[in-house]
Amino acid sequence: ERGGYPHFMLKEIHEQPKAIRDTLIGRIAEGRDGVELAELGWPAGFAENMDRIHIVACGTSWHAGLVGKVWIEQLARVPVDVEIASEYRYRDVLRTPRTLMVVISQSGETADTLAALRAAKEGGYRVLAITNVVGSSVAREADDVIITWAGPEIAVASTKAYTTQLVALLLLAIHLGLARGTLAADKAREMLQALDNLPQLADQVLDTAPQLAQFAERYKDAHDTFFIGRGLDYAVALEGALKLKEISYIHAEAYAAGELKHGTLALITEGVPVIALATQPHLYEKTMSNIKEVKARDAFVLGMTFVGNEDLAQVVDEVIYLPQTLPVLAPVLAVIPLQLLAYYAAVARGNDVDKPRNLAKSVTVE
Ligand code: F6R
Repeated sequence: ERGGYPHFMLKEIHEQPKAIRDTLIGRIAEGRDGVELAELGWPAGFAENMDRIHIVACGTSWHAGLVGKVWIEQLARVPVDVEIASEYRYRDVLRTPRTLMVVISQSGETADTLAALRAAKEGGYRVLAITNVVGSSVAREADDVIITWAGPEIAVASTKAYTTQLVALLLLAIHLGLARGTLAADKAREMLQALDNLPQLADQVLDTAPQLAQFAERYKDAHDTFFIGRGLDYAVALEGALKLKEISYIHAEAYAAGELKHGTLALITEGVPVIALATQPHLYEKTMSNIKEVKARDAFVLGMTFVGNEDLAQVVDEVIYLPQTLPVLAPVLAVIPLQLLAYYAAVARGNDVDKPRNLAKSVTVE
C-alpha cells in the first residue's frame, strides 16, 4: 500500500506532481483564457463586489492561507486577513457585509475550522471551503467547495495536501483578478501556462532528495534550526519549520529575514543550521544581506534559489536550485526540499515518520 516507499510520507511527497496535475485538470480554460471554477455558485457580481476576504485554517492549511493572501492581494486587489481558526472563532471578528469567508482544511473535519465556518454561516456570510475530502463536514456545510485532488493523505505530516491547496488558492486568485479587472489577460495566461508546467518542475525538484538526505544526516543532532525568507519565502519558511519540528523533533523557527536583527540574531552562533529561501527577485538583495548577517556569525547556511542565481553560492555553504518558473509560483516548488529535509531528518533520528508522537491526523477535538 505504500507503493514500494518505506513511509507514506515519502510516497506522498513523490505524489505531488500528480496531485498538482489532478488539481489543475479541467480548471484551466481552453486557450488559457481564464480559470474554470464552475463549483463556485456565486451570484452575479459577487467576485467584483467583495471587499474583504477572511481565510481561516489550522497548521499547514493556515500556512497555505498565508501564501494565498499574498497572491490574492497582488492579483485581485482585495484585502485578505489570514487567521488561525482557534483564534478567529473566539474573537469578536470585524467583517464587512461583503466579506468572503474561506476555510482551508485537508481533512474537512478540523473542529476549530468547522466552528469558524459555522459561525460565519450563522452571521449570514457565504463560505468557500478548500478541502481534500469530498463529503467531509467542511465540504457539506460550506456554500461553495473547491476540492484539492491530492488523493488520500495518510502520513500525519501534510505534504501533497499543502501543495494542492496552494494550486487551488492561485487558481482562485487568478479567477478573482480576472473577474475584478485587476489582472491583465496576458499576465493570467502566462501564469496558467506556468501552472500547467508545474507538475513537471515539481518532479525535477524531487531530484534534490539525495542532497537533503545528506544534509539531514549531518545535522540530525542539531538543537535549533532557523528558516528565513521574505514575502512568499517567509510563508514557505513557516511551513518548512513546522514540518521539521513535527516529525524530526528538532526545534525550528521561521523568521521573516528582515526581523532577525530584532532579537533572534542573538541565537545564531557557529554551526547553527539556517535554511535561507531567496526565490523572489524583488527581495533577493535584501534577503542576501540578511544571509550575510547570519554567515558573519558562522551559521551553516543552506540556501535555496532559482537556477541562474549563481551568486548565492558564493555566500552560503550549500545551495538547492529550483528549476526556473515564474517567481510567483515558487512556494509550490520551494516547499518540496523542505519536506524532504524534514523527512530525512526524522529517518536519521529513527523516528516514527508517519505517526509522530503526540499528534493525530485529524484534530476533531478543540
Ligand atoms: C501538519 C499538519 C497539521 C494540519 C492541521 C489542519 O503537517 O498536517 O498542521 O495541517 O491539523 O488540518 P486540516 O487541514 O485537516 O484542517
